[in-house]
Amino acid sequence: MLTYPPFWVHKEVESVLTLFTKEQVHEEAVYHANSRPFALNLTTDGENMTNPSTETIVDIPRIFNIMESAHRIHNPFTPEKLASLGAALRLQSESRILDLGCGSGEMLCTWARDYGIGGVGVDMSPLFVEQAKARARELNVTDRVTFIHKDASGYVSDERVDVAACVGATWIGGGVEGSVKLLAKSLRAGGLILIGEPYWIQLPTEDIAQGCRAESVSDFLLLPDLIASFGKLDCDVVEMVLADQDSWDRYEATKWLTMRRWLEANPADAFAKEVRSELTSAPERYAKYAREYLGWGVFALMPR
Ligand SMILES: C[S@@+](CC[C@H](N)C(=O)[O-])C[C@H]1O[C@@H](n2cnc3c(N)ncnc32)[C@H](O)[C@@H]1O
Repeated sequence: MLTYPPFWVHKEVESVLTLFTKEQVHEEAVYHANSRPFALNLTTDGENMTNPSTETIVDIPRIFNIMESAHRIHNPFTPEKLASLGAALRLQSESRILDLGCGSGEMLCTWARDYGIGGVGVDMSPLFVEQAKARARELNVTDRVTFIHKDASGYVSDERVDVAACVGATWIGGGVEGSVKLLAKSLRAGGLILIGEPYWIQLPTEDIAQGCRAESVSDFLLLPDLIASFGKLDCDVVEMVLADQDSWDRYEATKWLTMRRWLEANPADAFAKEVRSELTSAPERYAKYAREYLGWGVFALMPR
C-alpha cells in the first residue's frame, strides 16, 4: 500500500513537494482525459493549459497523480461511506464548508448535490483540482462549490464556515493538532471540524509500521488514543465514520489497474520504471501490512 498519509507525514513536508513544468502536468492531463468519461479543460489559476509553457507550478509528487488519476475519492471511503458521513453531520441546506486537501472534490460536489451545501476546496494537485471542477460541472453544482489550486498550508478562509475539513491530509497543518488549530481559524462558533486520519488497528512492530509506509509506530495512534487526543485539544468528538477492509480495498486496489493501464499507455515514459516497481510490490505489501494494521476514519469535532 502506498497511502498519502504515511508517505506524506514528514516533518519536512517541503522535501516531498514537487515543482512540475506545465508541460509535464499537461501530459498527465492528456492521459487522464483519455481515461475518464469527461473531457478536461485544464487550467491553472485561470490560465489555459492547452498551450503548455515551461513555467513551473506547484504539484504533488507525480506518482500520486498517476496512481490516483481514476479515483474520485482519494481516501479509504466508498461513495456510500462518504454519503453516510454527510448524513451523520445533519448538514443544513446552505451550510458552508471549507475542505483543505479536497482532492477531486467528491465530498463537496456530492454533498452540494445531496444536501444543498456550498463551499470551497483547496488542493495542491492541478490535476485533482481540474477533476473537481469537472465533477462540479457534471453534477450541476458549479454555482455552489469553488475549487482552488494552492498549497493549503496556513489557508484560512475569508468567511467563517459551518464545517472546516481536512480529510486525509493533516500534514497540511503539520499534523492533527496543527490542522485542528488551522481549521478552527475558519470555523464559525458552533461549527464542526472534520479530520480524516489513519490509526493503528493493532499496534505494529517498527518493521510492520514501515511496511505500512509509516516512518515509525509513533506516526499513528490506536483508535481510543486518537479519540482521546482530540479531547486533549479541547474538542468533543461528536461523530465518526470509519473505513473498513472493503473500503480500504477500493482505495488501494483501484490504484493497481490505473497503474497497469498507465504503463500500457506510456511504456517509454521515464517514470515508467517507478510505476512498474510500485505496481509489482504494492498488492502483496498492502495485503501483508496495511490491510491488517491500518485503520482510517473521519472524526467530527466541536471545540468545547
Ligand atoms: C489522501 S488525499 C485526500 C483527498 C480528499 N480529501 C479526499 O478525501 O478525496 C490528500 C490530498 O491532499 C492534497 N495535498 C497534499 N499536500 C497538500 C497541500 N500542501 N496543500 C493542499 N493540498 C495538498 C493532495 O493533492 C491530495 O488531493
